[in-house]
Parts: sequence; C-alpha cells; structure tokens
Amino acid sequence: MSATARKTSPLPDDIRSMKGGTPIVSLTAYTTPMAQMMDGICDFVLVGDSVGMVLHGLPSTLGVTMQMMQMHGRAVARGLERSMLVIDMPFGSYEESPEQAFRNAAKLMRETGCAAVKLEGGTHMADTIAFLVARGVPVMAHIGLTPQSINTLGGYKVQGRDGTADRLRADARAVSEAGAFSVVLEKVHAGLAGEITQAIPIPTIGIGASPDCDGQILVVDDMLGLFTAFKPKFVKRFASLGEDVQAAINAYADEVRARRFPAAEHTFSDKAPG
Ligand code: KIV
Repeated sequence: MSATARKTSPLPDDIRSMKGGTPIVSLTAYTTPMAQMMDGICDFVLVGDSVGMVLHGLPSTLGVTMQMMQMHGRAVARGLERSMLVIDMPFGSYEESPEQAFRNAAKLMRETGCAAVKLEGGTHMADTIAFLVARGVPVMAHIGLTPQSINTLGGYKVQGRDGTADRLRADARAVSEAGAFSVVLEKVHAGLAGEITQAIPIPTIGIGASPDCDGQILVVDDMLGLFTAFKPKFVKRFASLGEDVQAAINAYADEVRARRFPAAEHTFSDKAPG
C-alpha cells in the first residue's frame, strides 16, 4: 500500500479542521470488502445514494430508500475502523420538516454507527441543518448539482453558469452558517468552486469542481471502471476493472463449455487429504 494510512477514525470536527491543509480524500463505498480496502486511506467514506444507480440498476437516485441506506450503511460500517463513515439521506427522508430529518438521521446513526449524514440542498435546507446539528447530528451539506433535484434542475448541467453563481455562493454561506462541518460541491465550474472554497470556513469536497477544493470525492465504481453505463467528464478511471471482470466471466464460460474447468487441481479424489 503506497498511500499513508490513518491510525484512528477522524470525527466530523477533525474533518472540519482539515480546511486549507492536505486535501481530504474520500470515496463512496457500498459493501464491506470495498470499505476494508479504503479503511485508513480515505479520511471519510460515504455511503452515497449513488448506490441506487451503481448497484441496484435504478435510473436515478430518486428510488433509493431508507432501508437501502441502512443495509449498505451497516455493510460499510463493518469494514471501517480508521475512516469516518458518512451516510446519505435518501430522497424524501428529510425535506418535509426538520423533525422528519432528525427522525431519519437518528435512525441512520443508530442502525449503522455512522458519524454524520449528508443531505442535498443549500439555503432552503439551512434551518434543517441547524436543527440537526443542535441535536447532535453532524451534517455534511451537498450543493451545486444535487441529483435528487434533477427533475427541477433541468438535467445534469454544470452549475454556477448562466447567472446561478450568486445562488451557489448564498447556498455555501447558508450551509456553513447553519453548522454543516463540510460541504460537497458537485459539478460547479472550477473558478466558482475555488472562490467558494476561499470564502467559507468549512472544507469543500469537490466532485467535478476544482483541485482548489479542500478535498475530493468520487463514486468508487466510476473510478475503478466498474460502472460503465456512462462516464461524466469529471470521472478519472484509475483502473478498468469492468473490462477485467467481463474477460474473466467470458473465460470461465468458455472453459466450462469446453470441460477445461474444473481441472484436476480443483477436484477431490476419494483419498484423504484433500
Ligand atoms: O451519492 C453519491 O455518491 C454522492 C457523491 C457523488 C458525492 O453524493
């Protein structure tokens, strides 16, 4: 392992204090084995609602449920000892009222042991963020392209162009003042992402934003080349595992049909040992 590994899991306040320092490293995870590989290398691991598209074949994140987040949250928690766990609040679980948000955030924390929740929205979610933080729920905010609002945002467009920069600046200020310990900036043009990072006291975590953000996050299946249905420009593939998996499945099928697998070394004789 070449990356420096953490010895203990940070808390939300530790992540907050990384503002302006060595960039914060994070990835999504949905399963125990993947979480184990990231443990101590990522500062935090997010069980993103991207799980719906990446693992469940949904067309968007809108169909993701609390049950899905709890199940994947528990799986990832079993794989982490040295990275902080953050879980996404799914669409419909927090927008109605601060009380609804608290009830569901508390459920996620109780059931999974996560250290924090993430929710989408800026100015209009500030009261909810303040309500949660005052009651012991650390909140990571998520502004810019917020996939749960895709039907009102008008598609997966770069955010901050066409006169929307002031709204984004206000969103960043609002979530910071409400007490969020960090904020994800998704698909925000690089100049604005850098400017917001300078302007607010909490760390910005970029995805399709700017290297000037205080940290970066990617969907793990995107960066491993496992999710290949589409590839946003901001994704860098650090591996091509999808191609390797496909080649292995093809080779297995060929060998079974040709009776080359299983070979002698994979079968048992009537003599012990073996
Ligand atoms: O659901 C997710 O994976 C996310 C990241 C893209 C930030 O919210």
